[in-house]
Amino acid sequence: NTYQIAVIAGDGIGPEVMEQALRVLNAAERQDNFRLECKEFSWNSEYYLKHGRMMPEDGMERLKSFDAILFGAIGDARVPDEVTIWELIMPIRKQFRQYVNFRPVKSLPGIPSPLANGDHIDFVIFRENAEGEYSDSGGRLYAGQEGEIAVQNTIMTRAGVERIARAAGSYAEKHGLKKVTSATKSNAVIHANKLWDEHVSRVMAEEFGGLEFEQYYVDALAAYFVQRPQSFEVVLASNLFGDILSDLGSGIVGGLGLSPSGNINPEKDYPSMFEPVHGSAPDIAGKGIANPIAQIWSAALMLEHLGEHKAAKRILEAIEAVLTEGAVRTKDIGGDATTAQMGEAILLAMKKK
Ligand code: NAI
Ligand code: MG
Repeated sequence: NTYQIAVIAGDGIGPEVMEQALRVLNAAERQDNFRLECKEFSWNSEYYLKHGRMMPEDGMERLKSFDAILFGAIGDARVPDEVTIWELIMPIRKQFRQYVNFRPVKSLPGIPSPLANGDHIDFVIFRENAEGEYSDSGGRLYAGQEGEIAVQNTIMTRAGVERIARAAGSYAEKHGLKKVTSATKSNAVIHANKLWDEHVSRVMAEEFGGLEFEQYYVDALAAYFVQRPQSFEVVLASNLFGDILSDLGSGIVGGLGLSPSGNINPEKDYPSMFEPVHGSAPDIAGKGIANPIAQIWSAALMLEHLGEHKAAKRILEAIEAVLTEGAVRTKDIGGDATTAQMGEAILLAMKKK
């Protein structure tokens, strides 16, 4: 099999961690007998400063025919964050209907969790990625006056709720998981979250009768993430709740340098995009000390999505082997290895598999 991959490394540590992910992908191709034709796009803040835009006018058109997009991170002090995010990442997520934001939350060997009990944590979050609380519907009135107000609308559609619930249920079934947990706040947010509850529970009952389904108010669920994270398998949440829960999830298993994500279009009518949860980390950019694991794991999620399960598994096992061995660690996880040394160690571990 041959796949066309668009690579957007971005800014700051983006290109540093991407270099290691591409080395790992290259080794995986040779070991598992598939081909990746990677095309790099230098659409980043430098490009913006030169051309006044984050991507060329036909940028989306050029990305459309790829099988997947591997993204690094974007963000530079010389360009406002709204510009980098809304002109590059958002159009890709929205126009390519990547309505699932998929985030694994998994304990890794040798990485201390800030939680008191050392239980093994392994669940995934399905965050709705296209509608919900993150909308530009609303406005502000009476600016500067005593009675100043802002209205920010949440948009939940039946179709939007059904499809994310279906994506979570299908994932659970396909991976032999037994339980889906939905986050809500329908006791207070009575219109949008009631619609969420009704259609999530209906889809689960009608289409996924074999799965256990539970629902919690998101505030209580946040506490359970800390108290009994090992009890979750698939967590389903709206855009805002999912955003917060997934960073909480990243926090309980060891931090940003280790957290991958996928922006997935389940219908596969447009490419999906895989990226680490972290940003361009300007505080450590250029020093060669960023942890490449989040990027490498994101590349593994991409292979999983493309159907190269064996290669994806091999990469994750190599990451785990290196962390178990423990000698090579970047600074964020308590060592002094460089980005390249970390990448090298994972490559070596893959060859032993
Ligand atoms: P950040 O994720 O870039 O950094 C937060 C902290 O985590 C920093 O101390 C950083 O050094 C550390 N860190 C992040 N990734 C790491 C890694 N792989 N290895 C070791 N340490 C790591 O978030 P921050 O500082 O809030 O934002 C910086 C820039 O990144 C901003 O311009 C922001 O807009 C952008 N950003 C972009 C995202 C994206 O491309 N999807 C996501 C989040 C932020
Ligand atoms: Mg977030």
